[in-house]
Amino acid sequence: MKISVNYSGDYSAIVTAEIKHKIQMIHHGIYTKTAIGADYLGWVDWPSSLRQEWLKELHETANDIREKSNVLVVIGIGGSYLGSKAVLEALSKNFQPFNKLEVIFAGHQVSGSYLKQLMQYLDSKEVTINVISKSGTTTEPAIASRFLIQYMEKRYGEQASSRIIVTTDENKGALRSLAIEKGYKRLIVPEDIGGRYSVFTAVGLLPIAAAGYDIEEFINGAKMAEQDLRTLDIENNSTIQYALIRKHLYDSGYPVEILATFDNKLKYVQEWWKQLFGESEGKDGKGIFPTSVLYSTDLHSLGQYIQDGKRMLFETFLLVEKVDEDLTLYKLDQNGDELNYLSGISLHEFNHVCYEATSIAHHRGGVPQIAISIDQLDERHLGHLLYFFMMSCAYSAYLLDINPFDQPGVEEYKMNIFKFLKKPGYC
Ligand code: PA5
Repeated sequence: MKISVNYSGDYSAIVTAEIKHKIQMIHHGIYTKTAIGADYLGWVDWPSSLRQEWLKELHETANDIREKSNVLVVIGIGGSYLGSKAVLEALSKNFQPFNKLEVIFAGHQVSGSYLKQLMQYLDSKEVTINVISKSGTTTEPAIASRFLIQYMEKRYGEQASSRIIVTTDENKGALRSLAIEKGYKRLIVPEDIGGRYSVFTAVGLLPIAAAGYDIEEFINGAKMAEQDLRTLDIENNSTIQYALIRKHLYDSGYPVEILATFDNKLKYVQEWWKQLFGESEGKDGKGIFPTSVLYSTDLHSLGQYIQDGKRMLFETFLLVEKVDEDLTLYKLDQNGDELNYLSGISLHEFNHVCYEATSIAHHRGGVPQIAISIDQLDERHLGHLLYFFMMSCAYSAYLLDINPFDQPGVEEYKMNIFKFLKKPGYC
């Protein structure tokens, strides 16, 4: 399995002696766990260090959820929900939003009507909830938890605690204390793995396993990436290539990256990617602003700007080579819609032509291009892809001399909320 990265410019021109040296230093810092933010480098070798017994226990929890319930409500925000949401959306069939179990997300925004309607919807279902917060103190999921835990207690009485699972830090946080007090099952977010790097921990794996997808294959994909991307071969290591091209474009006056896809199932992979890169890189007045488009939809909304607007954008296409289902256009005797010229072309082939046409047009319009291709959308390829992005994001932030693993800028709005609402200790 290989992720290929293609660049519209000359990659070899980017790889100067100075850049080679910098990459060697970063590589050393990551793999010896001595780089800035080293306390949060636990994700680097996490996939290969997962133990069978741990996975067995996770499967038992997932099976237990499915035996008791037909809906799992996952409460979390940012890295505590986007990883599993991305994988579930990528693997689910359109119009059939669940596989073996329905998974609904809450706590990722604050809306009274969303929560009210969710609780009404849950009335006719059997429910388990999984509250996920590494810090155990994030306000938005805590608000949703308060309502949903009350709902569970009213509905299931003493049995409620066997239907509430908490994924949080091993040693600290209000959520941990609550789980211990009420006897909820606790899963641990490893201390050295931050939210946006946590998709291969219980944070991402439990919802994916409960929904009935193959987490072993997902982890295998990540393990392969862990192995393949370890090499210091700057010419061929795709994760280094992607980071270096991004950095080169940023330095050349392109501070905005658009992740473009033709596959609607990748929408939440795009959202996960935006959080990963935005929160990891956007610090100290630096960093590429990550945004995303879904084509063809956005060719008819943002396409004009991308082709012709202010020149500050570069475009990274995320392409899937093979699809498992497709339709082929056929000839009609009456060519009323004038589409007979497309007969014999599958919709996947059409999208590929659309990609080439768009890429050439945007490149001519002054938008540099990167193309990242994976073979197909399944658990293994997704595991590989997400690990690839995580590693590339670390390289990217280190190339800007930034700690990829903190998010000091997110604190300011939180402090203001606490002040405005007079949280004890903050007024
Ligand atoms: O990547 C991160 O660390 C953040 O996006 C967190 O995941 C997010 O803020 C939620 O934090 P917590 O899991 O502590 O509730």
